[in-house]
Amino acid sequence: MAYELADLPYAYDALEPYISAKTLEFHHDKHHAAYVKNYNQMAQDAGMADKSIEEVIKASYNDSSKSGLFNNGAQAWNHTFFWNSLKPGGGGAPTGEVAEKINADFGSYDKFKEEFKKAATSQFGSGWAWLVLDNGTLKVINSPNAVNPIATGQTPLLTCDVWEHAYYLDYQNRRPDFVDAFLNNLVNWDLAAQQMAAA
Ligand code: FE2
Repeated sequence: MAYELADLPYAYDALEPYISAKTLEFHHDKHHAAYVKNYNQMAQDAGMADKSIEEVIKASYNDSSKSGLFNNGAQAWNHTFFWNSLKPGGGGAPTGEVAEKINADFGSYDKFKEEFKKAATSQFGSGWAWLVLDNGTLKVINSPNAVNPIATGQTPLLTCDVWEHAYYLDYQNRRPDFVDAFLNNLVNWDLAAQQMAAA
């Protein structure tokens, strides 16, 4: 089924000063829109237009004849998940069950933060940093290019886009500063709680 480019769940300027309206305009209206458009065309060409995007991502992962379909499908999905991983006035430590699970699996929120920042800044070139549930345990991982936890059989709870297009206009080459803003001022812990409850 065709995958729709959803509007951002907040106004373009709602994440300022941490992410500018200009970045969100380019990132959502140009980059994300292109992945969605390409994905829908490629899914149709591959005779997979009747499948959900998650099914297509799983079926095309590690199939070299379908790398374009995988890359565009996963990028279409990843960006929607990224927009929902952010919220105005977000960031800081979680509360409730997510906080308890973070303490249990990482030792402390500070340790989680350290691991997430390391994963996000050490991903060489383009990719993503994720908080995932892997067989019931929280883990921080990074992934190259379009690869995501749907492909690798984990449950995503949060993601940070570390492709340069995510931060270059606002931070130039300072990816660590962008990741700090993500963790301290933008993370939407409500998404992680919903994903954890549904897993
Ligand atoms: Fe992106």
